[in-house]
Amino acid sequence: MQQSPKLIREWSIRSPDGYVSEIQVGRGVAVALAGVPDRCSRVAFFTQPPVATIAANLAEAASSDAVTDVREFPDGDAAKDLAVVADAYAWLNSLEFTRDDLIVAVGGGALTDVAGFVAATYLRGVQVAYLPTTLLGAVDAAIGGKTGINVQGKNLAGVFRHPQKVIVDLDLLDELPEALLAEGAAETIKAGFIAEPIIVSAYEAHGLGASLDVVVPEAIAVKVRTVKADFHESGLRAILNYGHTVGHAVEVAAGLPHGYAVAIGMVAAGAISEVKVGFEGFERQRKILEKIGLPTVSPPVDAGLVGTLMGRDKKRDRGGLRMVLLKEFGQPIVRHVTDDDLRVGLAAVGIDAA
Ligand SMILES: NC(=O)c1ccc[n+]([C@@H]2O[C@H](COP(=O)([O-])OP(=O)(O)OC[C@H]3O[C@@H](n4cnc5c(N)ncnc54)[C@H](O)[C@@H]3O)[C@@H](O)[C@H]2O)c1
Ligand SMILES: [Zn+2]
Repeated sequence: MQQSPKLIREWSIRSPDGYVSEIQVGRGVAVALAGVPDRCSRVAFFTQPPVATIAANLAEAASSDAVTDVREFPDGDAAKDLAVVADAYAWLNSLEFTRDDLIVAVGGGALTDVAGFVAATYLRGVQVAYLPTTLLGAVDAAIGGKTGINVQGKNLAGVFRHPQKVIVDLDLLDELPEALLAEGAAETIKAGFIAEPIIVSAYEAHGLGASLDVVVPEAIAVKVRTVKADFHESGLRAILNYGHTVGHAVEVAAGLPHGYAVAIGMVAAGAISEVKVGFEGFERQRKILEKIGLPTVSPPVDAGLVGTLMGRDKKRDRGGLRMVLLKEFGQPIVRHVTDDDLRVGLAAVGIDAA
């Protein structure tokens, strides 16, 4: 029997242009997306193969006379492509979409990123709602108003624009395959390490079995607070990149999934934090990541390539490479790091950058 929807927490973000974005997390709350806003006469559901039935059911349940249509996009990052965007524009044209109409994105982070990009640019901006179906999507990609597609490099084209609504329905995340759950847990525990002890304790006690009802709202709250303070990513928002400097390099050099690479990157950043700013939590952080089932050492990798890739990291500025470090759990700080510091971090994850 279907339970009635349970709202756990909600937030609203007002962006500089006056837009208000509502974020809700709960159980059984996806049905809210079947409610179509006034004046909206077309609803275009963007989705991807593993979750297409969820989108189809919502479209079926849509509460008004609005015309609904569902389209499956290529899976994963294959959706974040200019040709796919062109195809989406053509589809919206065929639906005679107007600025009062609504796009609903049902899928992982890649799908919400491309749907957000289409929504931000089609007719110079139409309404969009996200229903993230992965843990990483729920705590990270769907929150914060960054949209993007890949053009040769990852996320090289995009705009900042919040969706009108984000609905995180934890019921949809309960059955996630373990690998996807672990990848999302890397970004969720990252939010814990930089800003929220409740998340740290939950994963420390239960590993991957930590209650989604606890960790997801807390991780979203961290991202919402950070984004509210720094919408256009000029300063504070950088703390969300904890673990991503070494992480991105290892992701590309070793071909690891993003979340796994970020876990390795956090171990490296923890080691550098220990020598640079007296962080005492290195061993505790490593144990928590291990308990979650995330890797804490890199697979064999070309150390020279890792170094080159870090040099290209977008957080490099004229003074050298800047990294997010931890003074303590919950106390991130951005510091310039030297090649010697980096060697310490890489050695901690088994990369000998002699
Ligand atoms: N906009 C941002 O601020 C931001 C932040 C972080 C990541 N991202 C982007 O998010 C993407 C990664 O997101 P992701 O980790 O969700 O990966 P993803 O979107 O590639 O999804 C991973 C896989 O899970 C499948 N999937 C989705 N929901 C499922 C479900 N409920 N059950 C089973 N399988 C399911 C997808 O079809 C895909 O095969 C990247 O493109 C990244 O650049 C964006
Ligand atoms: Zn990340």
